[in-house]
Amino acid sequence: MSGAPSVLFVCLGNICRSPMAEGALRVAARDAGLDVAIDSAGTGGWHVGNPPDSRAVATAREKGVDISRLRARQVTADDFTRFTHIFALDAQNLADLQRLAPADGTAEVALLLDIVPGREGDAVADPYYGDADGFEIAWSDVSSAAAVLVARLKP
Ligand code: 4NP
Repeated sequence: MSGAPSVLFVCLGNICRSPMAEGALRVAARDAGLDVAIDSAGTGGWHVGNPPDSRAVATAREKGVDISRLRARQVTADDFTRFTHIFALDAQNLADLQRLAPADGTAEVALLLDIVPGREGDAVADPYYGDADGFEIAWSDVSSAAAVLVARLKP
């Protein structure tokens, strides 16, 4: 890979899972001294401009990262050339990304947990309609992926 890596995480609303993935990779990259551009977006547009869900903010804060100033946005065609890697948080997000990808897209598009040994094919479950436990599980999943990513992206 040439140049600095850049990673975009994509879920449905960009208020729960992908902002937590962004936060988890920020922590892991900071701790590893890795220079990587990180962002997140949603396939849906309902929450555009909104901060992450308060439960996602609280979960990330407990782990040492402030995601409260993130604002939801929708995936754009440009994202497929701006980022080297785009990770979908679940299979539906992946299918939507593959449908949206322009012909000249250069980003590698993949399911996030496919990079975690033993978790191939798994979704990061949507915690939006559940309780706080779901946010802990989602954080654990995105942290596992962030650790693999840091190891892979290290120069
Ligand atoms: P996310 O969670 O995709 O992890 O951000 C969701 C947030 C909002 C909705 C669905 C999922 N919603 O339907 O509004």
